[in-house]
Amino acid sequence: MKFIKLLLLLFVIQTQAQQGGMWIPSLLNGMNETEMKNLGMKISADDIYSVNHSSLKDAVPHFNGGCTSEVISPKGLILTNHHCGFDAIQNHSSTEHDYLTDGFWAMKMEDELPNENLVVTFIVSINDVTTQVLDGVALITSEAEKQKKIQENMTKVSASFPKEAWQENKVRTFFEGNQYILFVTETFKDVRLVGAPPSLIGKFGSDTDNWVWPRHTGDFSMFRIYADKNNHPTTYSKDNIPYTPKHFLPVSLDGIQEDDFTMVMGYPGKTQEYLPSFAVAQIVNETNPAKIEIRDAALKVQDGFMRKDNAIKIQYASKYAGVANYWKKWIGESQGLKKSNAIGIKQNFEKDFQQKVITAGKQNEYGNLLAEFGKNYTEITPYAVSRDYFSEVVAKNTELLSLGYKLYQLEQVFATKGEQAFNDRKENLIKSQEDFFKDFNKNVDEKVFEQLIALYGNKAPKQFLPASLINADYKKLTTLIYSKSKLVDYAKFKTLLSGDSKSVLKKLNADKGYAFVKSLADNYNKNVAPKYDEINLKITALQRTYMKAQLELYPNSRIFPDANSTLRVTYGKVKGYAPKDATYYNPVTYLDGVMEKYVPGDYEFDVPKKLIELYNNKDYGQYADNGKLPVCFIGTNHTTGGNSGSPAVDAEGNLIGLNFDRVWEGTMSDIHYDPSICRNVMVDMRYVLFIVDKFAGAKHLVDEMKLVHPKKK
Ligand code: ARG
Ligand code: ASP
Repeated sequence: MKFIKLLLLLFVIQTQAQQGGMWIPSLLNGMNETEMKNLGMKISADDIYSVNHSSLKDAVPHFNGGCTSEVISPKGLILTNHHCGFDAIQNHSSTEHDYLTDGFWAMKMEDELPNENLVVTFIVSINDVTTQVLDGVALITSEAEKQKKIQENMTKVSASFPKEAWQENKVRTFFEGNQYILFVTETFKDVRLVGAPPSLIGKFGSDTDNWVWPRHTGDFSMFRIYADKNNHPTTYSKDNIPYTPKHFLPVSLDGIQEDDFTMVMGYPGKTQEYLPSFAVAQIVNETNPAKIEIRDAALKVQDGFMRKDNAIKIQYASKYAGVANYWKKWIGESQGLKKSNAIGIKQNFEKDFQQKVITAGKQNEYGNLLAEFGKNYTEITPYAVSRDYFSEVVAKNTELLSLGYKLYQLEQVFATKGEQAFNDRKENLIKSQEDFFKDFNKNVDEKVFEQLIALYGNKAPKQFLPASLINADYKKLTTLIYSKSKLVDYAKFKTLLSGDSKSVLKKLNADKGYAFVKSLADNYNKNVAPKYDEINLKITALQRTYMKAQLELYPNSRIFPDANSTLRVTYGKVKGYAPKDATYYNPVTYLDGVMEKYVPGDYEFDVPKKLIELYNNKDYGQYADNGKLPVCFIGTNHTTGGNSGSPAVDAEGNLIGLNFDRVWEGTMSDIHYDPSICRNVMVDMRYVLFIVDKFAGAKHLVDEMKLVHPKKK
């Protein structure tokens, strides 16, 4: 009896511990595979990654560097999120064909729409090259010289590692510079838009529901990869043919239930799971609050204008969404870090770490690490905060300032690279800023400027600010700049940039707006950046040693490398969660929930007529689950930005959902993963197929796929 209890206890500990982690697909053999099988997985590590035969990784390309996609037919059809395909959908839209509003469906291949600058990248193989990259590095003492040697070695391995002519080699660092991996990749450059639902489905709930569960968004769009006659990557040509993949994902019609195994494969961008407590304290107490306050002010101004004026709403909707996305994430992240006591947990770990260092007799190597971290984080804090103020106020959220900052960089290009480079960049700017000015409203930006510059002057660390900004009359300054500067209108902007470098630079420096940006940027480059970079280099080196120490001193821990935009596997279960007292969220939402949120005429919560009809008639075809239509579900998969569009597969590797977000209470998972409240959000494949087939009438696309019933066989 006791023995059984002990076994049970071990099992509980094990299943609790399994949550979280973003693993390298080529290294799943052993601990991960065992864990995955215990959770219910039926396939093997070799079915996920293999160089000898086709495997799951052959169906999961990186989508344009920032998102993930998956191949779902033998003819190169791929699926990603609506928000990942958004730019492509928008670029093909005009007032006559408004695909964002109405959706788009190619009814035959000839109608699929080519996209300039849209690529997908497959992983051919994953190879450890740590020995080659670190060759001769240990003997070098200067940190800067070390980094230089590493860069040289990386270039050398990249150039010499065997690959085919149409492939590329890329080396990436793992575990903060303790491991190096070379990826052989294939990048396809002819990727065409096949279909997208209307935004009222693909973006249903918009910013209000963003980062929130329960969720009811059909966040998907479809593309197709085209290749040359040899099935190799090439740029667009009308003679290209649909790509024949090495592997494509069958789509399950049986869906999921609570506690079912799920796995998500994709390209998570960045996590910081191994920071010391000092760094987390800096995020929670200093940098997040500053960034949130700045964006809060900018968003309030924009929202006020957008609600009153529809033209402004159209101009600012996409910008607003971009700024609001991380604003909202940081708020959730700070709350989650506090609620889960992340700093306390890190501090306890650090005590244990210190003890382990002593027990292992490694005081010389690792004994001072934490003290050094403490010292450097104290020192860097005011610089880090100043840096965030500069980047949030000047480089990002005030349009006049961010435009001015681009011109500041143009002036630097002249200083460092001369007339020709200056002219090239200038011409590019003139062209690219046309779109900027289409969506620019002087009155909106003027109000944003006034608010943000006051925050900058009043709240950023004073010792690094130009005297002109402290206790200034912000209102007067704003009026002066917005009435005098030529940076507020495209025609004036073009006159400012006409002529040779000498006359342009003269005009620029006489412009009140430009002169103001320049004073801020010069000041930042002199008083903040050099010291920040100097301390940050030390922190990076400490972090590398800290990581090495953890790998050495905790050989039996589940330590995974932080996300770095390379292919990873995360796994878990479909699971609800209890974010606060007396509150429990079920793991699945249904179309009924869309109708509960329905607000006729609202830009976030209106529902297309056709969808209401299908709902009223319960016309769900083969996609219903006990008479109801599933829309989204959540699970304990550890994901982050970049995982958008990632396939969620079942125990047998069939596609069951499309990852697109995380739950509000768990957005701190980039820094501290807490299995009790961290969940990823996926759209159910049955909702995707229902929209394609029943809503859009594009059944031919569903017919291209392989639909399976794993639970019914
Ligand atoms: N939060 C999700 C992610 O980080 C979705 C963002 C797009 N949606 C939006 N309403 N801004 O990408
Ligand atoms: N929405 C994110 C993305 O676009 C995913 C996440 O942060 O969970 O990649």
